[in-house]
Amino acid sequence: MLENLAAQPADALLALIKLYNADPRADKIDLGVGVYRTAEGATPVFKAIKAAEQKLLADQDSKAYLGPEGDMGFVHALIPYVFGQDFDRSRVEGMQSPGGTGAVRLAIEVAKRSGIKRILMGTPSWPNHAQIVAAVGLELVTFKHTTADGLADLDALQAALAAAQPGDAVLLHGCCHNPTGVDYTEAQWDAIAATLSDGKVLPIIDLAYQGLGDGMEADAYGLRKVLGAVSEALVAYSCDKNFGLYRDRVGAFYAVTSDATALANAMANGATVARASWSMPPDHGAAAVRLILSDAELTKLWLGELDEMRDRMAWVRERLAAAQQVGSVNMAPLGIQKGLFSMLPLSGEQILALREKHGIYMAGSGRINAAGLTTGNIDKFIAALGDVAG
Ligand code: LMR
Repeated sequence: MLENLAAQPADALLALIKLYNADPRADKIDLGVGVYRTAEGATPVFKAIKAAEQKLLADQDSKAYLGPEGDMGFVHALIPYVFGQDFDRSRVEGMQSPGGTGAVRLAIEVAKRSGIKRILMGTPSWPNHAQIVAAVGLELVTFKHTTADGLADLDALQAALAAAQPGDAVLLHGCCHNPTGVDYTEAQWDAIAATLSDGKVLPIIDLAYQGLGDGMEADAYGLRKVLGAVSEALVAYSCDKNFGLYRDRVGAFYAVTSDATALANAMANGATVARASWSMPPDHGAAAVRLILSDAELTKLWLGELDEMRDRMAWVRERLAAAQQVGSVNMAPLGIQKGLFSMLPLSGEQILALREKHGIYMAGSGRINAAGLTTGNIDKFIAALGDVAG
């Protein structure tokens, strides 16, 4: 039987991690998978997480099952940060998921179970979005995410929404767009919210990088604006980046609606999908986040660490933008893009040359994780870019 299996291509982004690790060059640069790095190139465990883990070690008295919804203390503690202090709590319920990926999977599965057949999505997008939509068995309808000038293409989104059929869903990145770093402006979000307010299309908002753009509140602007205008929506959330918990897989799926029965059913359907997939999400990271958010000192420590990350990203982006023109690449837009990622207009050959000749690893799409750049390697990166794109 197993001989009937077709070979599968390795996930290109994850394969890059292995290629990078196998490269013996001491001055290699990893701009691949989206993990934050310090000025020393490290991805340390947050101090707030370490402190919460110590508490967990001392106080946790059981590891008995919690259920497919996971740690509801964690799920509820996030609500004011994601939805805002004043959000009507009766409209929202959630459940824990294994990372943001698990949350997106739950959102798309629940969308399908509610009768949705098509997902509208701006491209380029995080490659796993399209994979998840395909795996769930929904049709993907794409539109352009960016204009030729490198801005968010509101017209393309509005045209896609105008052409949508009632009962379609639209998948939007809440902030720090992956892979382009090009976010909708506040004025654009206002226009998007106004369009979505007719209820024709269900918004699904993926918020995987809250706090890495302009701050926890500012990065939630679009999500909150949309949720203020619509009667229902789904949200996929990740703590993997803003708490640095990558491998612990910490995410949450939320449904928003003022129909109490629909809300309960969204959760029940999510729980059914979870039970048949991973049964219950991993506890450790979510428990650590819950402990941080329920302790004012730890919350302050965590927010301070998040500020440091953002400050460092701002430094990298300023340095890249200051290079202005590197060969054929206009660097100026990198200064206003948000989050870890930006996309460089490089050919496959140029990306390969960066890797082979200079030991610089980036996704095949031209996406760079700007956090991989430090005082120690940014000049080398700019010089290498000039070499291949000159
Ligand atoms: C990324 O895009 O690099 C991250 O979201 C990690 C992942 O799972 O792809």
